[in-house]
Amino acid sequence: MTDIARIQDFQRHVGATMKVQGWIHNKRSSGKLQFLILRDGTGFAQAVVSKAALSEEAWVSLEKAGQESSVEITGLIKEDKRAPGGFEIDVKDATVIQSTHDFPITPKDHGTAFLMENRHLWLRSERQHAVIRIRHAVIKAFRDYLDDQGFTLVDTPIFTPAACEGTTTLFGVPYFDEGTAYLTQSGQLYNEANAAAHGKVYCFGPTFRAEKSKTRRHLTEFWMLEPEMAFAHLADAFEVAQNMICFAIQRVLATKKLELERLGRDLTRLEKVKAPFPWVHYDDAIKIIREKGSKTEWGSDFGGTDETVLAESFDQPIIVHRFPSAIKAFYMEPDPTDARYSLSADILAPEGYGEIVGGGERISDPDLLLKRLHDHGLPEEAFRWYIDLRKYGSMPHAGFGLGVERFVTWICGIDHLREAIAFPRMLYRIYP
Ligand code: 4AD
Ligand code: MG
Repeated sequence: MTDIARIQDFQRHVGATMKVQGWIHNKRSSGKLQFLILRDGTGFAQAVVSKAALSEEAWVSLEKAGQESSVEITGLIKEDKRAPGGFEIDVKDATVIQSTHDFPITPKDHGTAFLMENRHLWLRSERQHAVIRIRHAVIKAFRDYLDDQGFTLVDTPIFTPAACEGTTTLFGVPYFDEGTAYLTQSGQLYNEANAAAHGKVYCFGPTFRAEKSKTRRHLTEFWMLEPEMAFAHLADAFEVAQNMICFAIQRVLATKKLELERLGRDLTRLEKVKAPFPWVHYDDAIKIIREKGSKTEWGSDFGGTDETVLAESFDQPIIVHRFPSAIKAFYMEPDPTDARYSLSADILAPEGYGEIVGGGERISDPDLLLKRLHDHGLPEEAFRWYIDLRKYGSMPHAGFGLGVERFVTWICGIDHLREAIAFPRMLYRIYP
């Protein structure tokens, strides 16, 4: 039996006759030659089929097979600098597993609505394939980084009894006799309990926001990576964020260059990203955007355009810090030098990609925490356990959340978060 080669490993198989299992991505023929672009899940490669090299039956079945037919191809793997991906298969034999026709997504241009409706098929395209492979590399890099820094992965629940990031974006679900449970907005609160048990922890999972905003930066279900550290301050947490981001970019540049190039990504912009990232005080950030024409007042959160304008003034990601306490979540530690400000920060990506990280230092005093819960009109009963964390061995602690789709969208240089996850959930989309 001929061994199976994966397209991503072709370099290792040059000169060998191997079998490739995959799909016909594209095809053109000229009489006695057929040129196939095959995809096998790991990559795309050109296969050249000459009528003389194949049985009549194999030739005809291949000729009849349409785009996305599944096939097994046996052939000699050759290096060819001109071929897409750098290799070519000189086909010796072919079996069509399923001959298919009328694949809805053809090489011509389709509108986004049509592509989203066919997301389950669109995922096979070169562009979508590249994005999802980069997403995988990013997630692995984040996890490798944190694992190497001594963080422990502790999973946090998805059904929760209360809000973490404000009550306006909660998804409620009926939960037996308990009444309503809410899909988690963030694993942070549970992470804080886990940090008191394990020191440095992270959770990584889906999080949910009933976002009414229909923007290119918002999903209703997105994946968040959230590290949390005991005995740590704002600066400690954001040093981890910064270094983790740089590590992931280097990893993607080293291992996913082909995919980045397929997306037409300007690599020089990514190569430039280097620690340390500039820290920009909220007051200075307001000054900068107002000088550039923004009407945003001191005391408000930034809009998407503000973030873009602000980030454009720097060529590195920036750490905007000390947002007013009044616009931040109940758990934010006030700045000890001026309680109007909180020990919070966001990282804004360059090139107009906006906020990719949000985090801060958490209140460690039980009385202040209780007061803030009341100020925010949150039910004390549901947070009893959270207050306990401040009663038994309280300590300064800090962490952050990085939105995976926001990060991947930036790294890939694409326009919209919907392409950074296989099956995006948005205000008006739950199919497929
Ligand atoms: O700034 P956020 O709301 O922070 C938190 O949830 C904290 N509890 C995290 C923590 O400190 N552990 O969200 C964090 C990040 C944002 O910076 C953004 O990248 C992403 O999550 N995010 C979204 N991504 C896609 N769609 C949405 N609707 C998002 N909302 C936030
Ligand atoms: Mg935020």
